Amino acid sequence: MKRTHTCGELSEKQVGKKIILQGWVAKRRDHGELTFFEMRDRYGTTQAVFNAEQNKKVHEQAKTVGKEFVIQISGTVSARPKGTENEKINTGKIEVVADSIEILNACTSVPFEIDGRVPVGEDVRLKYRYLDLRNPKSQQKIFLRHKFIKAIRDFMDLQAFVEVETPLLAKSTPEGARDYLVPSRTNPGTFFALPQSPQLYKQMLMVAGFDRYFQIAKCLRDEDLRGDRQPEFTQLDVEMSFVKEEDIFEVAEGAMAFAFEQALGIKLQTPFPRMPYVEALERFGVDKPDVRFGLELETVTDIFKNSGFEIFKKAAAAKKSIRALNAKNCAIFSQKDIKEMEEVAKIYKAKGLVTVKFTEKGIESSISKFLDEKTIEELKKKMNAEKGDLIVIVADNYAVASNSLGQVRNHLGKKLKIIDESQHAFLWVLEFPMFEWSEEDGKYNATHHMFTWPKIEPLEDLEKRPLDAKSSAYDLVYNGYEMASGSIRIHIPELQMRVFNIAGINEEEAKEKFGFMLSAFGHGAPPHGGFAIGIDRLLMLLTNSESIRDVIAFPKNKSGIALMENAPAGVSEKQLKELRIKIQEEK
Ligand code: AMO
Repeated sequence: MKRTHTCGELSEKQVGKKIILQGWVAKRRDHGELTFFEMRDRYGTTQAVFNAEQNKKVHEQAKTVGKEFVIQISGTVSARPKGTENEKINTGKIEVVADSIEILNACTSVPFEIDGRVPVGEDVRLKYRYLDLRNPKSQQKIFLRHKFIKAIRDFMDLQAFVEVETPLLAKSTPEGARDYLVPSRTNPGTFFALPQSPQLYKQMLMVAGFDRYFQIAKCLRDEDLRGDRQPEFTQLDVEMSFVKEEDIFEVAEGAMAFAFEQALGIKLQTPFPRMPYVEALERFGVDKPDVRFGLELETVTDIFKNSGFEIFKKAAAAKKSIRALNAKNCAIFSQKDIKEMEEVAKIYKAKGLVTVKFTEKGIESSISKFLDEKTIEELKKKMNAEKGDLIVIVADNYAVASNSLGQVRNHLGKKLKIIDESQHAFLWVLEFPMFEWSEEDGKYNATHHMFTWPKIEPLEDLEKRPLDAKSSAYDLVYNGYEMASGSIRIHIPELQMRVFNIAGINEEEAKEKFGFMLSAFGHGAPPHGGFAIGIDRLLMLLTNSESIRDVIAFPKNKSGIALMENAPAGVSEKQLKELRIKIQEEK
């Protein structure tokens, strides 16, 4: 027999009706003559009652049924006795008085309580992810994901975008992470790379004349994992022809506004604000500023360059930057609170930080004996410091001083609870530098990727002054997280080759790696550009999840392992032989 209803839909309307339900036993309570089950399925829960007085047999049978058994019951919908209704759930006014029960499957003891009320380690949850996902709270996140992605697809379709699937067995794309490699059996000694993004393919689709492409695309990157990263993640990937930056922003903003409204009922204000990269660094220290709170950074190098504090004086003389923020009302901070800030700064490469408290009794600081009246006065003025404030100062090269203090700012935002959590603060950060010098690689690297159109006047100067070139790249930031990035691309083969050369790729290597691309650009490539939004990361924030893993049905754990199915795992000698691969024992 089939179920007549789900566990989430019965109400007073069906009182008196004979029904059949199927689902899991979420809870059971025995009260002598009466046994209660809470039956659960995807749609909700319904209370079933087994009454010994009315039906001794079924009451006896119910005793053999444990938690998380899959059962079918038939019975009659009845109004719950007065005072026992549950207003919190849809079915809270009724219960089903069972007249038969059938066990569809038993359940051995579960490794943790499904309802999540007893805390359990994440690795155990991931090992038994099918049980973890049985929790309605976990399911809600996956349902929201579905709704959000569906809304995006609807929007893109309405805007005449075509979804095109691109290969998973692909060629290495230079997104900056390590590739996952797949050995080819039919061409021994050669490898496919799993795509870090569909970047090259979407550009080829523009050359092919598709004009407006999108894909809900799987991307694979072998990178060090953090709370907001997974080796396998999903992007809304978009590319458009004959467009300027503003046309691209409009699509990204439209897609977000539509999906927020459809999936969450949230109305977003568009267009999103725009901020040049240099301004982001100057005001917030980081290129993905959380603009939901103040505590903006200032540069105080000039104030300290002639001060008695040698470290700052030397830093200023060495053209380093001294950057500061005013932690309002934080003069009450303890040594521990200050240590906490310092730890944060150190993670981001600062050597330490200096604090100056403005108190009733004057200033309190580990460097107070080096600070004369004039310096204090200037600092006070520049930082708008009042009694009760705490000035936090970092000296280092501009990038490190800004970034580490920017991270301290984020830390303070959370610690002081001054972030307006009701805001959805989207922000475009623009005009990134085109190249950065990498000490590690001893060469220039493209800050976004090498396919980004460089901006420098005149363009002939690109090789002469690569660090002066801006790129046509942009990032979309949401509440302090990088959510998307994109750019206007190069579509002229000669310019592409020049950018490859600056990034240390010679003609031979460029032809070998990207020959098809250079050739395509020579076959009538239209001007084009696009972006990609990290969907998992966005959903993590929208569902207030602690980690990105919560919004992915089957994620890898913190160490990049799929615990449920236990992957990666060894393979047979035969498989290795076919691939002509030998595993070297670690010495
Ligand atoms: P990018 O590499 O910046 O750009 O990626 C775009 C967005 O994808 C998300 N993201 C991740 N999410 C989860 N786990 C990861 N490991 C991870 N890495 C990135 C972020 C990021 O902003 N092809 C270009 C886009 C383009 O130029 O069109 C690209 O992939 O939210």
